[in-house]
Amino acid sequence: MTLLPLTFIFFFILASSIASSSPSVQTLNNDVNINPKIVPKTLTASKKFEGSSELVNLRYHMGPVLSSPINIYLIWYGKWAPTQTLLIKDFLLSISTTNRRAAPHPSVSDWWQTVSLYTDQTNANISRSILIAGEYSDTKYTHGTHLTRLTIQEVIASSVRSAPFPVDHKNGIYLVLTAVDVTVEDFCRAVCGFHYFTFQSKVGYTLPYAWVGNSGKQCPEVCAYPFAVPTYMRGGGPGALAPPNGDVGVDGMISVIGHELAELSSNPLVNAWYAGEDPTAPTEIGDLCEGLYGSGGGGGYIGEVMKDGSGRTFNMNGRRGRKFLVQWIWSPVLKACVGPNAKD
Ligand SMILES: *[C@@H]1O[C@H](CO)[C@@H](O)[C@H](O)[C@H]1NC(C)=O
Repeated sequence: MTLLPLTFIFFFILASSIASSSPSVQTLNNDVNINPKIVPKTLTASKKFEGSSELVNLRYHMGPVLSSPINIYLIWYGKWAPTQTLLIKDFLLSISTTNRRAAPHPSVSDWWQTVSLYTDQTNANISRSILIAGEYSDTKYTHGTHLTRLTIQEVIASSVRSAPFPVDHKNGIYLVLTAVDVTVEDFCRAVCGFHYFTFQSKVGYTLPYAWVGNSGKQCPEVCAYPFAVPTYMRGGGPGALAPPNGDVGVDGMISVIGHELAELSSNPLVNAWYAGEDPTAPTEIGDLCEGLYGSGGGGGYIGEVMKDGSGRTFNMNGRRGRKFLVQWIWSPVLKACVGPNAKD
């Protein structure tokens, strides 16, 4: 899950003081400073943690991973603009290697390659085939404009009761995306997204699901960082980076969606891949690399990323010429955070 611990603000302050006092603020092609970013909780002391494997004890707990082709069922909760739904769908459809026209390297499907290195006890890898199997829209906010962890399950229950949106308990995962005006329990304060599974009593089935909210109007400086920065960082420090598709809230969501999908696939029933001894607060394969988007990152820097001709920030290519900025993922092979734009 994308957890923002209480120490989060502290890290921001730490990160910004590092940025202003140290000469190691990195500079890109166009003399644009890379912003500092939240430091993963396990690795705060390490300036360059791409190789700090000894600090991380990621373990397999014998449960399943999503190894058969993954069917995503999208639930749009609230009012969404078609440009926004298209952008998110382009990201999701860029993951699969089965799409005929491959995006140029470094690509979203190169990024998912790291996720596909995780296996279960039958040696089945996480699938590289991901498709959008169905979509359901609730534009009427049937369950209100404030959702809790439990009412999100009711949103899923309503959607699977509506034909032709099926209960796909073999290959299905359910992705609930809340519009910019929907508040969610712990959103902004502690989380930007989370994943879990549904309860029989609520939905009738155990279905892995994730929720991610559009933070654009509520807390972009928390959940859409580095496309928005907190007020106290604005004076003199590096400013916000331009989002690759011009939508701070939705471009910020894309990285959180990537994070949750990677964790949902490697820990769908919260009994497979995670670090730490407490399964109610697992540190998962996205958590370990939160805030890291390029080589040299860590200790408060997002790392080296790219800019397009208009100065928009990205680190991977998707279908139809799209560009995205998505956080890196912990590799079980390299025992380090890895992304497709890594310099080696
Ligand atoms: C499956 O995972 C193993 C172990 O991480 C890896 O060596 C192998 O390359 C993966 N296979 C595929 C097809 O991704």
